Amino acid sequence: TKVAFIGAGKIGQTIAFNVIMGGYVDEAIIYDIIPELPEKFEHELRHALASRKLKTEVLGTNNIDDVSGSDIVVITAGKPRKPGMSRRDLFVDNAKIMIDLADKIAKKNRGAIYIMVANPVDMMASVFMKYSGEYTISTGDQVETMRMRSYLAKKLKVPVYDINGYVGGEHGEDAVVLWSTVTVKGKPFTEEMGVSKSEVEDYVKKIPGEIIRVMGGTTWGPGTIIEEIVRAIALNENKVMSIAFPHKYEDEVIHVSEPVVVGKTIGPSLEPLLDEKDRWHLMASIKDFYSVYKENLKQLEESI
Ligand code: NAD
Ligand code: MLT
Repeated sequence: TKVAFIGAGKIGQTIAFNVIMGGYVDEAIIYDIIPELPEKFEHELRHALASRKLKTEVLGTNNIDDVSGSDIVVITAGKPRKPGMSRRDLFVDNAKIMIDLADKIAKKNRGAIYIMVANPVDMMASVFMKYSGEYTISTGDQVETMRMRSYLAKKLKVPVYDINGYVGGEHGEDAVVLWSTVTVKGKPFTEEMGVSKSEVEDYVKKIPGEIIRVMGGTTWGPGTIIEEIVRAIALNENKVMSIAFPHKYEDEVIHVSEPVVVGKTIGPSLEPLLDEKDRWHLMASIKDFYSVYKENLKQLEESI
């Protein structure tokens, strides 16, 4: 398996490190526009690989033409939000990067699975897919899913592997905990267990902003969670994850998360198993996404 990492900033490095140290890819290419950064990162990775006795081939490059023949392309290139900003505020700046990348990398990596990480991640996946014509997914709410499980585990004092369930909808402020999927030690979640739904929802939405305020960005959480998405695809694990995959809606292909089987192909979705309320929330999220996305596309066109 050959994996390309487009962007070698905070989150790009963390994902690349985790994937490469996982020892399951044959080749990795790391591309960034900052001179020498990918090349020096390559040295660091080679040193780490030597210590682990792994023979993965790694290339760090500033030449986009080196990015070719990949099976999986992970895109983290783009601006991160600053404290007080919403992810959606990054739309125009990062969409311009996606359009440029779609033009430059798609033709040399036909048929790869493109995994979008740059924010607003679901909309960037839709933009990249629209302009490249390549199958693109977004890491979506798998990150929220793990934030939700970790919070419940801590509050209810149970091991995190005894908490199950998913968060869906758009990554960020509009994400919805799919309560009909949430279980604690196999039993359906109820507030009588000792934690309110609103407290969990609040945590899931607010914690990344708090981490950004103090640490300058989120890295270790998403860097591990996203590695698991890459692994599930590379090793065809067919694991259920809450990622955003292409949905045809009106005249666009859009990306909204729901629990779905992730392997070399994506699907089927577990959406039919959700209760009425959760499905209603997901539908509301899709409608909202579509109208904001259309508005943003208009702004983008005006700014080009
Ligand atoms: P960062 O500033 O540390 O890194 C961004 C990198 O992208 C920089 O190295 C920059 O040189 C590079 N870059 C910019 N334009 C490029 C281009 N055209 N080609 C190649 N590289 C280019 O930021 P970060 O903290 O790593 O975040 C990157 C993006 O990922 C942001 O949009 C952020 O919001 C997002 N993010 C998403 C998640 C998630 O869960 N989906 C988690 C963390 C960060
Ligand atoms: C996250 O949820 O960690 C990322 O989307 C980064 C951010 O919050 O901007």
